[in-house]
Amino acid sequence: MAPVPSRLLTSGSEIPMLGFGTGTLGVRSKQTEEEVMEVLDTALECGYRHFDTAYAYSNEAAIGRSLKKWTSQGKVKREDLFITTKLSPDHNREADVAMSLQKSLANLGLSYVDLYLVHFPIGITATNNKEEFISVADESNWTLDYETDHVAVWRAMEAQVEAGRTKAIGLSNFNIQQIKRILKVCKVKPAVLQVEANAYFQERPLRTFCQENNIALCAYSPLGSPYKHSGSDQTSVLNDPVVEEVAARLHKTPAQVLLRFLHQLDIIPITKSASRTHQLENIQMLDFQLSAEEMERFTALDKGEAARKFSIHFLPNIENHPEFPF
Ligand SMILES: NC(=O)c1ccc[n+]([C@@H]2O[C@H](COP(=O)([O-])OP(=O)(O)OC[C@H]3O[C@@H](n4cnc5c(N)ncnc54)[C@H](OP(=O)(O)O)[C@@H]3O)[C@@H](O)[C@H]2O)c1
Repeated sequence: MAPVPSRLLTSGSEIPMLGFGTGTLGVRSKQTEEEVMEVLDTALECGYRHFDTAYAYSNEAAIGRSLKKWTSQGKVKREDLFITTKLSPDHNREADVAMSLQKSLANLGLSYVDLYLVHFPIGITATNNKEEFISVADESNWTLDYETDHVAVWRAMEAQVEAGRTKAIGLSNFNIQQIKRILKVCKVKPAVLQVEANAYFQERPLRTFCQENNIALCAYSPLGSPYKHSGSDQTSVLNDPVVEEVAARLHKTPAQVLLRFLHQLDIIPITKSASRTHQLENIQMLDFQLSAEEMERFTALDKGEAARKFSIHFLPNIENHPEFPF
C-alpha cells in the first residue's frame, strides 16, 4: 500500500491526509489496554501513521505502548508517525497547559507530539483534584468554567512549540469568532482546526474561513458516527441512497466514497474502526477518484447544522455558556 499523502502545515511539518481516531477506544468501550494495543497494531499494519488521541480519552498510555513497540522493533520510525493529542477541558487555563501536555507526553512515552489541540473552547472544572483528569466515567462532578481565556491559553500553547513539546498547535470545536480572536493576537497561527464534518454536515462557512487563513481542516465523525445508532440506521450518511448508488457504480463501499469526498475537498478525515476489514477499507479510499458530477451530487447532500451528531448536552446549561461554539 502506498503511503498516505501529506499536506504541509503552516508550522512547516507535514500532516498525513488520513488520520486514525481513537476516541472510543479504551475505558469508554470497556476495553483493556491490551485490546486497545491490538486495534493500534492492526491500524499500523494497515498503513495508518497519523493517530488522533486526547488526554480526555484516557487511552494515551495504551497508544504509547503500542507505538513504542513498533518503533523499538524498528518497524516504524518516530519521524514517520504523526501523533495528535489534546488539552484536557479541565486544564483550559494558561497555568495548566504545560503540565497537561507533559502528562500526555509521559502517558504516550514520547518527547514531543506532532500536533497539540485545544480540545474544546469551554473549560470544565472538576470537584476532584485538578491534577487528576476528570474521570470519563463520572461526569457528575463536572461544572462549567466561565473564566476560560482563549488568548491566554493560546499563549501557553505557543510556549509548548517553543519548548519543543509539540511541532504544531491547533484548535478543536472552536467557531469562527473564537478563532478570529486568536488570529488577531497570535505569534503562532493555529495550524489545524478539528471539527465534525461529513457529507451530511459539510461545515461550509468554516471550510471557507480555514482556506482563507491557511488552516488545515480535520474532520471527526467523517462517516457520521454510525455507532451512535443501533441496528440499521436509515438516517446515517452511510445508508444514504446517493452514497450507496455512487459506491456501487464505482465498486467501492459507502465508507470509501464518503472519505474520498472529504479528501477531494482537502479535508483530512479522522476515522475510527476497531475492525481490520474497515481499517483496510477506509485507507483504500486513496486509490480512486470521484468525478466532478459525483462531487456535485455529494455536495447536494449537505443538511447543515441539523446533521450535527457530536453533543455535549449532558453538561447542564452548556448551550447557554457565552462560549458555546455550536
Ligand atoms: N475533537 C473532538 O471533539 C472529537 C469528537 C469526536 C471524535 N473525535 C475524533 O475523531 C475520531 C473519529 O470519530 P468517530 O468515531 O465519530 O468517526 P466515524 O469514523 O464517523 O465513526 C466511527 C464508527 O464507524 C464505524 N466504521 C468505521 N469504518 C467503517 C466502515 N468502513 N464501514 C462501516 N462502518 C465503519 C466504526 O465501527 P467499527 O469500529 O466496527 O469499524 C465506528 O463505530 C474519534 O475516534 C476521535 O479520535 C474528536
